[in-house]
Amino acid sequence: MLKSFWFWTLVVFIAIQFFSLDIPAKLPIKKEQELQAPPKVISILKRSCYDCHSSEVKAPWYYNIAPISWFTQLHVKRARDVINFSKWNSYSKERQYKLLDRLPKSLLIRMPMPSYLYMHKEATLTQEEKKILTKWAKNLKEKIK
Ligand code: HEC
Repeated sequence: MLKSFWFWTLVVFIAIQFFSLDIPAKLPIKKEQELQAPPKVISILKRSCYDCHSSEVKAPWYYNIAPISWFTQLHVKRARDVINFSKWNSYSKERQYKLLDRLPKSLLIRMPMPSYLYMHKEATLTQEEKKILTKWAKNLKEKIK
């Protein structure tokens, strides 16, 4: 009985590997489309946001292993659909403005996603870092307007 339980668990585990979302961690990057910002801002964004909002996601070992991959890759897909910092310069001014407007609020509770922070403590932002991002977003917003 026990043996067949593990056997079938293994069969199911192997079978689901064939159902992949196929969201690559790395996408081709065009230099001229990448976000330009002060080094401090870029380093915070890279550490805390680029694992979802960029074309250079650092894939963990489970990135391609179902069923975890379904969640991880879906987050990356949805995050990129909203903001992909690697394509920032290809966005219209209106879109950039809207995103910069929402960015400070997103830092209050939702971003980086709590389920992600659980696995990536190093992505946690200090109050100071949140202030740096908020200030940068506000300044840039003013410039775009
Ligand atoms: C684990 C993946 C993940 C990480 C890391 C992450 N995000 Fe997101 N982000 C998402 C997803 C998924 C969405 C879109 C769906 C949603 O709104 O929940 C999103 C949406 C957003 C939005 C637009 C939605 C809104 O609030 O109106 C902003 C702004 C944003 N993220 C900023 C950030 C910033 C800044 C960081 C880094 C400090 C970050 N995110 C880190 C996954 C992530």
